[in-house]
Amino acid sequence: DSPLRVHAEEQGFEIGAALAVNHLNNDSQYRAIAAREFNAATPENEMKWDTTEPSRGNFQFGPADQFMDFAQANDMTVRGHTLVWHSQLPPWVEDGNWTQSELRTVMYDHIDAVAGRYRGEIAYWDVANEIFLEDGSWRPSVFYNTLGSGFVADALRRTAQADPNAELWLNDYNIEGINAKSNAYYELAQDLLAQGVPLDGIGIQGHLINGQLPSGIQQNIQRFADLGLKVAITELDVRIQMPADQSELAQQARDYTTVMNACLAVDGCVAVTVWGVSDQYSWVPDVFQGYGAPLLYNSNYQAKPAYDAVHTAL
Ligand code: XIL
Repeated sequence: DSPLRVHAEEQGFEIGAALAVNHLNNDSQYRAIAAREFNAATPENEMKWDTTEPSRGNFQFGPADQFMDFAQANDMTVRGHTLVWHSQLPPWVEDGNWTQSELRTVMYDHIDAVAGRYRGEIAYWDVANEIFLEDGSWRPSVFYNTLGSGFVADALRRTAQADPNAELWLNDYNIEGINAKSNAYYELAQDLLAQGVPLDGIGIQGHLINGQLPSGIQQNIQRFADLGLKVAITELDVRIQMPADQSELAQQARDYTTVMNACLAVDGCVAVTVWGVSDQYSWVPDVFQGYGAPLLYNSNYQAKPAYDAVHTAL
């Protein structure tokens, strides 16, 4: 049957995957499926701060360049991920005893170098990632603690200068439905737009639990679209309590259908990206004890019911 990307392209839609250069280099099946099935890609780790600037001013673009080469060779739309995030942040930033102006300079230098290197080549930047907690309050981080909430507007403006053609997005998890955390994004987005801060989209990560999707995903996407913003599901996976049996794989397929249809129903929801290619390399078992099998292909690269669900939705 025809690849996912063919059906996505027919309707101007993006079906993406998070890709890791070590697997692209070492696993030909992974590489072949990535190229065949997906017309968009996000670097799973290669553009994060700990990789791109492990010590101050020491920029390392080897992995990110390899990722870009693969994406461009295969006509994939790239989501840059991510410029300002509390996690995978090297100790020199996190533990630096910064004044406001020092940390702002550090942040601007990082944005200038990373967004500047790929200027004109990145469709969307996740400029800031995971800035709110579940109750809708600001997440403590060296950025928030030192600079206050204004670091987000500053980062957006700076990225707009570094790469004027990139769309500028915020990205987070547990904002699929309407809840305190997605409400915080809804309010922040309105504030930023009212102030004329460049903001183009909201990325809904979509790290979900099998059979436990929140209700109201489509309505939530729609309310951001109604602000004139784009939306995407940026890191979709649906984790199953292991071992996964047939009925759980069928439930997972229904959950993928729900998310696909919610996005496809809203003008302005432009992409669904799955957070990996095969279950074998997923981040889920490392982080969520007892869970696994969250993706479209099993560890032997057989397409799962979830793959068929995505195919049918497109
Ligand atoms: C994860 C990667 O998949 C792992 O390889 C890494 O060890 C940790 O980060 N939210 C994000 C992603 O925005 O960057 C995270 O990716 C998953 C959660």
